[in-house]
Amino acid sequence: MGEGSEEALTPLVKPRGQSVVLVGFMGTGKSAAGRALAQQTGRPRFDTDEMISQRFGLPIREIFAQFGEKTFRDAETEALSRLSVSVAAIIVTGGGIVLRAENVQKLQALGVVVNLEANEETLWRRVSRRTTRPLMQTENPRGTLRELLLARQSLYRAAADVHIDTSNLTRAEVVAALLRQC
Ligand code: S3P
Repeated sequence: MGEGSEEALTPLVKPRGQSVVLVGFMGTGKSAAGRALAQQTGRPRFDTDEMISQRFGLPIREIFAQFGEKTFRDAETEALSRLSVSVAAIIVTGGGIVLRAENVQKLQALGVVVNLEANEETLWRRVSRRTTRPLMQTENPRGTLRELLLARQSLYRAAADVHIDTSNLTRAEVVAALLRQC
């Protein structure tokens, strides 16, 4: 055998997990779709926001208020490290998970990454209904939404294998589209 042939036999790409991983901006419906998908498939569901909230014993907005965003982002990365590639799960992430390249690598290793998208108007309609999102508690939340969306859109696009525009879809339609990835 010639030199380097052994290297050629070693798989260069690690096998991927079987999970469905939902990423996307706040208000794209990740949590609700993830819950419905887990129910319909019988798969376990892991939501990074819920994992962090449980760990701190506090709602997300309190974690931001008491410890700051950096602590929350570190907790997000730590939560991902607890997810196993050998479990076929439904994984729901917070909107900022794509900000760290190491998070994206881990998500891609866990399975198929699905980006739930929506147009800006739709996002604003959905996000402005609630006051629980710490990043939206600004003087001009509409402008903040636009800025964050502009800054992050390319990150979601690059991270995901599949993109679903949820702007004009019912929850059932989103779940039907997601079932095709299971
Ligand atoms: C965040 C989104 C939130 C939550 C936190 C930060 C973000 O999750 O993780 O408030 O940076 O976009 P949702 O996307 O479920 O709202």
